[in-house]
Amino acid sequence: DDPAQLAAFQARIDADEKIEPKDWMPEGYRKTLIRQIGQHAHSEIVGQLPEGNWITRAPTLERKAILLAKVQDEAGHGLYLYCAAETLGVSRDELTEMLLDGRMKYSSIFNYPTLTWADMGAVGWLVDGAAIMNQVPLQRTSYGPYARAMVRICKEESFHQRQGYAVMMKMAQGTPAQKRMAQDALNRMWYPSLMMFGPSDKDSVHSAQSMAWKIKMNTNDELRQKFVDQTVPQAEYLGLTVPDENLRWNEERGHYDFSEPDWSEFFDVIQGNGPCNVDRLEARNKAWDDNAWVREGLLAHGRKKQQAKVA
Ligand code: ACO
Repeated sequence: DDPAQLAAFQARIDADEKIEPKDWMPEGYRKTLIRQIGQHAHSEIVGQLPEGNWITRAPTLERKAILLAKVQDEAGHGLYLYCAAETLGVSRDELTEMLLDGRMKYSSIFNYPTLTWADMGAVGWLVDGAAIMNQVPLQRTSYGPYARAMVRICKEESFHQRQGYAVMMKMAQGTPAQKRMAQDALNRMWYPSLMMFGPSDKDSVHSAQSMAWKIKMNTNDELRQKFVDQTVPQAEYLGLTVPDENLRWNEERGHYDFSEPDWSEFFDVIQGNGPCNVDRLEARNKAWDDNAWVREGLLAHGRKKQQAKVA
């Protein structure tokens, strides 16, 4: 890249201008966005699986309707994000194929199982809570289509977080057995939720460049701390215990001190060895293969319409 062109690009970023699809951009900026937006889109799509697992077993009709709507919202988020990625010159099919054959990642969190109904509460409260913490700042990200997609996604995610917390509240105030289920869900989801923010800053290979380009607005550790600070009082309100003996308010720092997740587990999960990696990819591959006839039918219909126009 020409240094003058690069400097002019960086000056636009520094002045908080939005970069739009037809603007010149360094190849690295384009590639980083495709990686991050693609990974984000895949997370929304794969993220439907752990919750989809409970739609048929929701305890009431009302809970079923809410969960169904929430899972459909996640599909919508995936679609806005694929559209944003497409403006960078990659097709949705290419992105999907890279997910299906393991060349692209999706969030580590969706490789954990959802074992009980209380997990629907914990996923909404903690996983969607962590997702919003990361996504609210992304509304100000430098790439226009990504920033705009985030606005609606964040509104819907905050509704998801509240519905999760409402499920947790019901469980935590229920029978002793229900309260135990809520505590067990918190115990299993806490550290995987902390891992969603990515490795600690010293191991985050992309942060420095992504922050200079305002593709990322905060470091992984900053957002993780913010999440802990926000979530601990919510756990206290529920009467549940965060599974961390080292958790305490640090008056001097004005933040909670807390234990880091087990990073060897994190790296293992993102390399494909988490409890549900194989299942998740099998489910997505099966959906892609089983629905090939729909794609073929749509393409054939499109071609027919096109020919009718030409004739
Ligand atoms: N799960 C899977 N992979 C991860 C995770 C995670 N939680 N965190 C980091 N990684 C991967 C990165 O993709 C990168 O691998 P790669 O080079 O093969 O792509 C590697 O670990 C190193 O991490 P970082 O250098 O810190 O990566 P990055 O700067 O991309 O930061 C982060 C990771 C914070 C997740 C960033 O990509 C981001 O903000 N993405 C947008 C939000 C998002 O994807 N949310 C998805 C979950 S929310 C939901 O869908 C409900």
